[in-house]
Amino acid sequence: MKVLVATEKPFAPIALTQIRIVTDAAGYELVLLENYKNISDLQAAVSDADAMIVRSDLVTSEVLDSAKKLKIVVRAGAGYDNIDLTACTAHDVIAMNTPGQNSNAVAELAFALMLYQARGGFVGKSGTELRGKSIGIHAFGNVAKHVAEIAKGFGMDIYTFDPFVVEKDIKKYSVKVCNTTTELYSKCQYVSLHMPSNEKTRKSIGYDLLKRMPKDAVLVNTARKEVIDEEGLLKIFAERLDFKYLADVAPDCSPIFKENYQGRFLFTEKKMGAQTEEANMNACLAAARQIVDYFKTGNEKFRVNK
Ligand code: 3PG
Repeated sequence: MKVLVATEKPFAPIALTQIRIVTDAAGYELVLLENYKNISDLQAAVSDADAMIVRSDLVTSEVLDSAKKLKIVVRAGAGYDNIDLTACTAHDVIAMNTPGQNSNAVAELAFALMLYQARGGFVGKSGTELRGKSIGIHAFGNVAKHVAEIAKGFGMDIYTFDPFVVEKDIKKYSVKVCNTTTELYSKCQYVSLHMPSNEKTRKSIGYDLLKRMPKDAVLVNTARKEVIDEEGLLKIFAERLDFKYLADVAPDCSPIFKENYQGRFLFTEKKMGAQTEEANMNACLAAARQIVDYFKTGNEKFRVNK
């Protein structure tokens, strides 16, 4: 049984050591494809693999066409918008994710971005503090819960909107519930996004919501760049000099930001939310265990395609 770990952005070495322990114990061969540049490299590597572990790597129909023996692909992470689920089903490949395994790392990054911005980039000028400021957590999943816990430690006033989570599960985190997105954005100086990218959420955060935010608004996006309506974001930036945007990966319109809005944005070069040794270990170990469990017992608990 051959397990391919295909990561354009590699896991920390310590995480790979752990994963190897799991595959060795199961008697499986572990093969690495790291830092690859072309889809043809992925196609060649997956051609004789029985299982594949990926991160944000694109698993397209084209890739699956080359995967003659593939039975399962596991996204070591939460968001599986990089995997063509319909194509997986058509190729008889099971797709899974590993929800919750890298949530704390993503939540910590949201605060790293907020603190860096609040302190003006640590260049000697007086900044501001997070204590006493309002934060709106848009969607209340695994990362959001960690954000709420950390925000509580900072003494922030915490709100959320998530129609899919029952109120009592939100209140456990000392978070106030908003009934609409309009209410959330109107109340919060900071808004942190935590929804997946799908057909309902893509381009869903735009001008009409952002214009509601109070003075010195800061939008924090450690979710996906695709959930932002970039035209609306640019419109609010042009209108409001107080508006800031912090994002884990640059938007497509980042050249416009670089040219016109220096000091009002912060974009990571590569997606950094899950880039900690701990998150890498959690996510890739979970992925390896899910693969072994699937082959040994047929467990499909984390399956995301039909
Ligand atoms: C996730 O969806 O789990 C995160 O966005 C992590 O993505 P990455 O594995 O590409 O860093």
